Amino acid sequence: MGSVEASGNYNSVLLSKLATNEQHGENSPYFDGWKAYDNDPFHLVNNPNGVIQMGLAENQLSFDLIEEWIKRNPKASICTTEGIESFRNIANFQDYHGLPEFRSAIAKFMEKTRKGRVMFDPERVVMAGGATGANETLIFCLADPGDAFLVPSPYYPGFNRDLRWRTGVQLLPISCKSSNNFKITIEAVNEAYQKAKQANIKVKGLILTNPSNPLGTTLDRDTLKNILSFTNEHNIHLVCDEIYAATVFDAPQFVSIAEIITNRDVNKDLVHIVYSLSKDIGFPGFRVGIVYSFNDDVVNCARKMSSFGLVSTQTQHLLAAMLSDDDFVEKFLIESAKRLKRRHEKFTSGLEEVGIKCLKSNAGLFCWMDLRPLLKEPKLDAEVSLWKLIINDVKLNVSPGSSFNCPEVGWFRVCFANIDDQTVEIALARIRMC
Ligand SMILES: Cc1ncc(COP(=O)(O)O)c(C=O)c1O
Repeated sequence: MGSVEASGNYNSVLLSKLATNEQHGENSPYFDGWKAYDNDPFHLVNNPNGVIQMGLAENQLSFDLIEEWIKRNPKASICTTEGIESFRNIANFQDYHGLPEFRSAIAKFMEKTRKGRVMFDPERVVMAGGATGANETLIFCLADPGDAFLVPSPYYPGFNRDLRWRTGVQLLPISCKSSNNFKITIEAVNEAYQKAKQANIKVKGLILTNPSNPLGTTLDRDTLKNILSFTNEHNIHLVCDEIYAATVFDAPQFVSIAEIITNRDVNKDLVHIVYSLSKDIGFPGFRVGIVYSFNDDVVNCARKMSSFGLVSTQTQHLLAAMLSDDDFVEKFLIESAKRLKRRHEKFTSGLEEVGIKCLKSNAGLFCWMDLRPLLKEPKLDAEVSLWKLIINDVKLNVSPGSSFNCPEVGWFRVCFANIDDQTVEIALARIRMC
């Protein structure tokens, strides 16, 4: 058999357009950086000169709290002596509505991550394989191939895959600029919308990420209200990816779109939330994604589609117990935010010592570094050259703004919550030495 790479041309005849198109976005520096890390991964003892992975938005700072809970609650796992009596039922359960106790626990957790200011109905909780699956499911429900969604840029690189690749939907950027700290203005939204109209592209909706990846900022109430008025007026959908809701570690507090739609004039049928446990609690491997729609038909359709990306019942069973432990969840959310704040401060102050500024942020698992002063010229080529230097010489995998579709060059995302304290020190020491 030939190598996987070598088979490209030959298979373009044999395989589907989907299998052979480039829309997945795998060939961006975002994923190339991961490959560079995989080829030479840093290890404190075994490979101290390797590449440090700062391109992964993982939240590993509070795993000890989860591990303690698991030890204290052996009945919640079906593969323990204490939990084995549930084994048969759980192993056999296959209803795509999910375990009722899981849906209730998730709805309650979503309320807690929004500080109890809104209620979520467990009947509207639909399971998906992570936010990745949830985002794609929603797009399949809302749009046809060729239709478009507006996305404020810079945006999460995975959106090109999740929202676009298999659905055939287009993403049209709403340009956000550093001159106003990358805030989303209605002028920019309208400009992107009108541009699409002129090109005869049917815009079906707008997708927000709040808190933002890669900016680490939250959207204020007025911005949310204005965007919602815009989408309502134009009768298009508003999808809010709120996967980083509980990573907010500083003021201003997080405002969910669920808090904004209480106004009677809003058409709730056009509003949908995507959620997941990958960031707030740090379980990307569990693949727990949620579609939460206020539109009954979308809930029903997404639920039918969820057959393609169910959450394993073993995971549902464990999480139902963990997330309905009120005392644990409340303490966890407070402690996790505290640890993120501490780490963020340590990292950004370390960068400031060497004159590197970051966009002021209050959420997320990353900083948005301003490396414009280090570019040879304000061009994409210069950003790519700087990124290569950082990865090959400084041996840090950070992600260049171009992979986030940033309309300006010179910004880089650096993740700070997927490594331990010692590795942070080493990363900072490497930056100081440059
Ligand atoms: C904004 C955003 N949405 C979705 C995802 C995908 O998350 P999941 O691991 O739950 O599929 C990510 C992951 O980084 C993300 O940042």
